[in-house]
Amino acid sequence: MSHFYLTTPIYYVNAQPHLGHAYTTIIGDAVARWHRLLGEDVHYLTGTDEHGLKIQQAAEAAGLAPQAFVDSISPKFADAWDRLDISHDDFIRTTELRHRTGVQQLLQACYDAGDLELDVYAGKYCVACELYYTDDDLLPGALCPIHQRPVEYVEEENYFFRLSRFQDRLLDWYAANPRAILPEFRGNEAIGLIRSGLRDFSASRTSISWGIPLPWDPKHVAYVWFDALANYITAVGYGADDDRFANWWPVDRHLIGKDIIRQHCVYWPAMLMSAGIEPPRGFAVGGFLLMGGDKMSKTSGNVIDPLDLTLEFGVDGVRYYVLADTAYGSDGDFTYEGLTSRYNSDLANNLGNLLSRVATVVGKKCGGVGPAPRADSPLAATATSAHEVAAAAWDDLQPSRALEATWSLIRATNAYLEANEPWKMEPGPAVDSVMGDALEALRIVTLLASPALPSTCQIIWQRIGLAGDVGGQRLPEAAAWGGYPGGLTVTKGDPLFPRK
Ligand code: MSP
Repeated sequence: MSHFYLTTPIYYVNAQPHLGHAYTTIIGDAVARWHRLLGEDVHYLTGTDEHGLKIQQAAEAAGLAPQAFVDSISPKFADAWDRLDISHDDFIRTTELRHRTGVQQLLQACYDAGDLELDVYAGKYCVACELYYTDDDLLPGALCPIHQRPVEYVEEENYFFRLSRFQDRLLDWYAANPRAILPEFRGNEAIGLIRSGLRDFSASRTSISWGIPLPWDPKHVAYVWFDALANYITAVGYGADDDRFANWWPVDRHLIGKDIIRQHCVYWPAMLMSAGIEPPRGFAVGGFLLMGGDKMSKTSGNVIDPLDLTLEFGVDGVRYYVLADTAYGSDGDFTYEGLTSRYNSDLANNLGNLLSRVATVVGKKCGGVGPAPRADSPLAATATSAHEVAAAAWDDLQPSRALEATWSLIRATNAYLEANEPWKMEPGPAVDSVMGDALEALRIVTLLASPALPSTCQIIWQRIGLAGDVGGQRLPEAAAWGGYPGGLTVTKGDPLFPRK
């Protein structure tokens, strides 16, 4: 069975989970579910990033010891993901022992390779980014280019990771792996960073204690990004279980936001190369979810709690909005009006209405028993092309395109019903043919939409009389036209998406 290993960034526990964090986690979840439908053995990893100065300061501000502080926040992420129907296979915390052991092994491997060397650093540091900046990087007034707030002057003895040695190897690797970064324009950004010249970065700190000690020099703790990036390998057995690690690594896709391209697409492959580990197979870089034009973030104070939105729009309503409204890779603006209008048009008026019409007419004209579709239905070609386009789009990490293709089949089926007006026909073979076709189209829609709307699609699956779990079906076979067997009980039920 082929493997598919997919990750989200691990989230800093200085903030409560918000819709900006949920954005990447929902996209990853839908992609993971798509790959499970393809019959692949999927491992979907998420977790929390719990070390470093930023977290230490947040703990101090909360009046708690760092461990007690991170223990109080991390479960909020796990809980939010459960409530958003995220089907992660593992949740890693960087304060876990399995992580500490693996990070120390990675540090040792880079040290043994001669790529971690002691040096003195003097310069500007942004605590929010946990990154050093040169004067050229900064905005006027010595402000951080990401957070637009003052940087700190720091001078300390650090172990430096000799990133500058990896420029050619990284460029060669990206040249040999042109689809490594999706969407492509984000790949160009990463390659631009590498071409512009790589500076060694400091990989340890003596000024703080909240971190993982270097095994050969324990007065230093690992730099938080060195520690955090390693979660992707420590979670799958690096340093502890060689067979398990060999089974999952290299990862298929790291999903990241556009603000952490440098750390993921430049630092991380170089760190792995140094330690003699294969680089990731790929990255997928998302834009920001904006709110009133600014990145939704704790710092901007414009965060939305996704769980509040689910109370009004349902879990699948929120998931659908996140997946369908923005082309992955570009920024998207969150508005309440946008969410309401997507919900009403795509979910209530298109999908919800299709199910309710089909169930009503089958109830009235077919005795509540769903007829089989025709092999030569005019909807068959539309269903095949919706499947093909959706499959290619999921493969390209473009959920909005995959859902657009899926919704084109919903619209075509609604139009087919409007053209044939089965509700005006007498019971008999003519109405059976139309309704068999509509049920089959709806079955295929349910399969294709299930990564986005898992619980709603399970309900539709059951209402049209199908047994088992929609997520347990196997593509591509299951989406071939003609799978609806006919003779199944169709149930009307409550509206899936009451209009807002
Ligand atoms: N802890 C680091 C990641 C380490 S991964 C080895 C971190 N954490 S974070 O919580 O600040 O952000 C995690 C990810 O969430 C980033 O990729 C960031 O872009 C993403 N997002 C945070 N707010 C977001 C939006 N408003 N919109 C989209 N993504 C957002 O960075």
